[in-house]
Amino acid sequence: PSSPAAALPALLLVFPQCPRIPYSSTRNFSVPYTLPSFDAGGPVQNVAVFADPATVFVAVRNRILVAGPELRLRSVLITGPTGSAECEICRLCPAAAGGPGSEDVDNILLLLDPQEPWLYSCGTARHGLCYQHQLEVRGSEVTIVATHCLYSATGNSPASCPDCVASPLGTSGTVVADHYSSFFYLGSSVNSSVAARYSPQSVSVRRLKGTLDGFADTFQWLTVLPPYRDAYPIHYVHSFTDGEHVYFLTVQPECPGSASYHTRLARLSTSEHDLRRYRELVLDCRFESKRRRRSAEEDTERDVAYNVLQAAHATRPGERLARDLGIDSSEMVLFGAFAESQPESPAPQDNSAVCAFPLRLLNQAIEEGMDKVLGLALRYPHCARLQVNLSAPVTDTSCWDQPTLVPATSHKVDLFNGRLAGILLTSIFVSVLENVTVAHLGTAQGRILQVGAPPSTPPPRALLPLAPLSPRSPRSA
Ligand SMILES: *[C@@H]1O[C@H](CO)[C@@H](O)[C@H](O)[C@H]1NC(C)=O
Ligand SMILES: *[C@@H]1O[C@H](CO)[C@@H](O)[C@H](O)[C@H]1NC(C)=O
Repeated sequence: PSSPAAALPALLLVFPQCPRIPYSSTRNFSVPYTLPSFDAGGPVQNVAVFADPATVFVAVRNRILVAGPELRLRSVLITGPTGSAECEICRLCPAAAGGPGSEDVDNILLLLDPQEPWLYSCGTARHGLCYQHQLEVRGSEVTIVATHCLYSATGNSPASCPDCVASPLGTSGTVVADHYSSFFYLGSSVNSSVAARYSPQSVSVRRLKGTLDGFADTFQWLTVLPPYRDAYPIHYVHSFTDGEHVYFLTVQPECPGSASYHTRLARLSTSEHDLRRYRELVLDCRFESKRRRRSAEEDTERDVAYNVLQAAHATRPGERLARDLGIDSSEMVLFGAFAESQPESPAPQDNSAVCAFPLRLLNQAIEEGMDKVLGLALRYPHCARLQVNLSAPVTDTSCWDQPTLVPATSHKVDLFNGRLAGILLTSIFVSVLENVTVAHLGTAQGRILQVGAPPSTPPPRALLPLAPLSPRSPRSA
């Protein structure tokens, strides 16, 4: 069964708006909808959407499926198991890429190049190497015409491996074009054994070589310090780029040794590749009940911190929501689908919220927080130094030129005022339809909700119950 939550962007490409139904039916979960679909044959691991002509790439274990409008399946590229006769692209990699005879390939990353008609896929097998797939538009169809294995026979070793991109524990990434080169910004979960051999590093910036046999030998990274690698797991939920920055969203313990988890925004500069200006900020999404508790019966109303991000999407809001947020509708907003976690665990409960963070205000919080760090430098000598190793030497000890957790919290209140109680959101995609900001929310039960934001203005447009119910997707779209 494919995961409808992971397939959200694909669904919206072919079916941007629900059919009109009587308002009285919008809360009837038994209304059937006929939607274009195909069976991916396994859990969807990633989705990438090529805009024109409309094409959806869907990654599952050992396969990349290519579908056109109406989700008609056009072709299938076999990406694994390694060493199998049917995996033709596996033979493009040098023998040095090694790995045991036959490994399944989970396509952890599926990314389109921002400049060229290229698709990248990175798998868990063979130390997490990537392929570049060149696309060609023929009439209304997009086809994969050539594939390169992004791994060089020399230049990679267990101690330093520029071509080892995907971590078996999870990786999120964004490709940015700069001076005719493609730079990969990557965030990977590591533990002590993954970090010890062919490490993908926690956060890294790598330049794709023009020769298309891997990444430049010198790449910049930072990685959690050895004592914390097993006790301080960092889960990279989402990444995106806007203007001069690349952002990662993570769920991690509040500090090393803590059993409480929270969500952070990490910011990297696209003009400074050595990560000294790497900054982190805590994102706080909560519901604050206005009613005072007068009796035990009203005890259900409580303040909730939705501490673990499940999925996110950064985009421009509609005019009404922009006004509510006090920003211009041309500004980017980070929409996060958050959940309350189980006690002392990053595992989510069925209790969700959606918070909207204007990006300009997040950047402002980082700059103001840094001014505070610098102002306090004397009394606060270790700055808010992160427990990381950095590939570039740190020479300036003023805190400005080293990775820093900014001592500020960006605080937002649930857009839906606690009305997503009992629901676990697994994906979010926000678009503007007729000037209204519409959040398309995927749930753990396999439903998709389309809701106007803020929800007070337009009524919920429709609910799309997708049957049969599917298990929760392991990754958000
Ligand atoms: C909900 O929709 C189904 C299918 O259209 C219909 O059979 C059923 O009567 C509706 N239920 C309500 C309460 O309107
Ligand atoms: C680290 O993760 C890998 C991959 O999931 C796993 O095989 C290994 O046992 C883990 N190591 C530790 C020390 O937990």
